[in-house]
Amino acid sequence: MSESEGKRADKIGAYAEQGNVYIDTLVVEQSEERATLKGIPQNVPLRGATKFVGRDDDLKTIHEQLQRRDRVVTFAIAGMSGVGKTELAIQYAVQYAQEFPGGICWLNAKETDLVGKIFSFVRLCLHQTILSKFDNKPLTLDQQFELCLQDWKPNGAVLMVLDDVSEATDFQSVVQKLPSRFRVLLTTQVRQLDASFFELPLDILAPEKALELLTELMGQDRIQSEQAVAQQLCAGLGYLPLGLELVGRYVAAKPFLSLAEMQERLNIQHEAIAQRPQNYVMTGQRSVTAAFELSWEELNDKAQEMGRFLSLFAADAIPWSLVKWVTEAFEWTTEEMEAARTALYHRSLLQKVDQTSFRLHPLIQEFLAFKLAHSEQADQVRATFAEALIAVAREIPLVLAVGNAEWCEQVISHLEAIAQTQIQYLSNEDLLTLTGSLGRFYKKQALYDSAEFWYTKCLKVLSNRAGDDHPINTISLVRLVNLQVVLQK
Ligand SMILES: Nc1ncnc2c1ncn2[C@@H]1O[C@H](COP(=O)(O)OP(=O)(O)OP(=O)(O)O)[C@@H](O)[C@H]1O
Ligand SMILES: [Mg+2]
Repeated sequence: MSESEGKRADKIGAYAEQGNVYIDTLVVEQSEERATLKGIPQNVPLRGATKFVGRDDDLKTIHEQLQRRDRVVTFAIAGMSGVGKTELAIQYAVQYAQEFPGGICWLNAKETDLVGKIFSFVRLCLHQTILSKFDNKPLTLDQQFELCLQDWKPNGAVLMVLDDVSEATDFQSVVQKLPSRFRVLLTTQVRQLDASFFELPLDILAPEKALELLTELMGQDRIQSEQAVAQQLCAGLGYLPLGLELVGRYVAAKPFLSLAEMQERLNIQHEAIAQRPQNYVMTGQRSVTAAFELSWEELNDKAQEMGRFLSLFAADAIPWSLVKWVTEAFEWTTEEMEAARTALYHRSLLQKVDQTSFRLHPLIQEFLAFKLAHSEQADQVRATFAEALIAVAREIPLVLAVGNAEWCEQVISHLEAIAQTQIQYLSNEDLLTLTGSLGRFYKKQALYDSAEFWYTKCLKVLSNRAGDDHPINTISLVRLVNLQVVLQK
C-alpha cells in the first residue's frame, strides 16, 4: 500500500493488517461495548432514556406474547411519533437479553435491503460466513438467505427487531422465511398494520409518570417549588417523552430559569409556529416543535450548521468518522467539530448509539431538514456534503482490501442516501464513482441484485443527462456485463 493510501486508511480507522482479505471472509472484532450485553450477540442501539418510566406492564405484555412457541410471533408496538416505541423496544431487548441466546438482531425497517442488513449482522455479530456458492454454482439471494437461517448459531430463541416499519409488505417476505425460534418485535406509527400481528397500542405517558420524568431531568427542588406549572408543562407537551426530555434538559442547563419563564418561552414559540404557512409546520405536535425551536436557539452558529447538514444523512446510525469527513470538507477544525457535537448532544438533539456512532430521532431529523431547506446556504451545504461523501465512496475499494468491513457496513446506507436524494449535486464522474463503489461493495458479498440496481440506476441517470448513445454509458454497460459473467460462472 502506498504512503497516501496508508494515510487514508488511518483516517477511517482501518486495521493495520494488510493483504487481500475480502469482506465476506473476514471476522471483524466487535466493539467492546456491543459485546457486553450479557454475552448475547446483538447490535441493539445502546442509547437509553435518562430514566425509563411508566412502561413496566408493557414490557411484561411484550414478553408474554413473544413466549408463544408454536410459530414465528410478530409483535407490533404501535403509536404516534415520539411516544417511546423505539425506547420500549430497546428496554425490552436489554432487560430480556438472556431469553435470546441466538442473538438480538436490530434492523432499521426503513432500509431497502433488509436481507443485506441481516447478512451484516450474521458476519459482524455471529462471526459466520454467508455462502455465495454451493457445489461451485452461484446461489440466488433466496438460497443464500435460507442457508444463512439454517446455519444461524448459537441455538436458542432469536429476537429480530424491526424499528419504524411503515408498510407490512416491506418485510413480510423476510418474516415468512424465519424459522419458528425467531421472535419479531416491530415498532410502527401505523395502527393495525396487519391483522395477524399482536399489537400493543402505545399511549402517551400517564401524567404522574411524565412528571416523574421531568423531575428526574430537572431535579426534585425545582419541580417541588413550582409543582402546578410543572404539571401544566407536562400537559402542554402532550405527555410525550421526546418533548419532556428536550424541555427537561433545557431547564436543567439554566439553573436560574423558573418553570413559569420556561412556560412563557414555549408559548411565544408556539404562537410563532402557528403563524407559519401550513407547509412550514412539521408533522409533530406544535408544542414539541416549540421545544425544538427553543433548543435550536441555544445553539451557536457552528452547532446549527452541523445540525443542518446532519439532516442529510440516512435515517440510520451515523458514524462520527463520517461526520468528521464532512466537517473537514467544510474546513472545520477537530475542536470545532467536537464542540458542535457536544452542544447538540447536551440538548438531546442527537442520541448516542455507541461510542462511535449516533442517531437522530425522526422528528428531530425532520426539524433539522426544515432548518436546512430554509437556510440561505442550503445549496452550498448540500453540494459540499455530497462532495465529502463521494470522497468516502472512493475509499470503499481500498477499505475492502485492507479489511475494515464494519466501517463499510456503517457508511453504506449514507452513501445510498445521497445516490437517492442528492443526485442533482453529483457530476457524471461522481455518480460513476459512487455507484461503482456501491456495486463493488455488494458484489463482494455476492449480493448481485443490489449491485445490479446501482449500475442500472447510474445507466438510467446518465442516459437521461447525456443521451442514450453517449460514450459515458459504456462504463455502466461494462459493469452490468461483468456482473452477468460472474453470475454465469
Ligand atoms: N418511557 C420512557 N421514559 C423515559 N424516556 C422515554 C420513554 N420513552 C421514550 N423516552 C425518550 O423519548 C424520546 C423519544 O422516544 P422514541 O424515540 O422511542 O419515540 P418513538 O415512538 O420511537 O418515535 P418515532 O415513531 O418517531 O420513531 C427518546 O429520547 C427516549 O429516550
Ligand atoms: Mg422510533
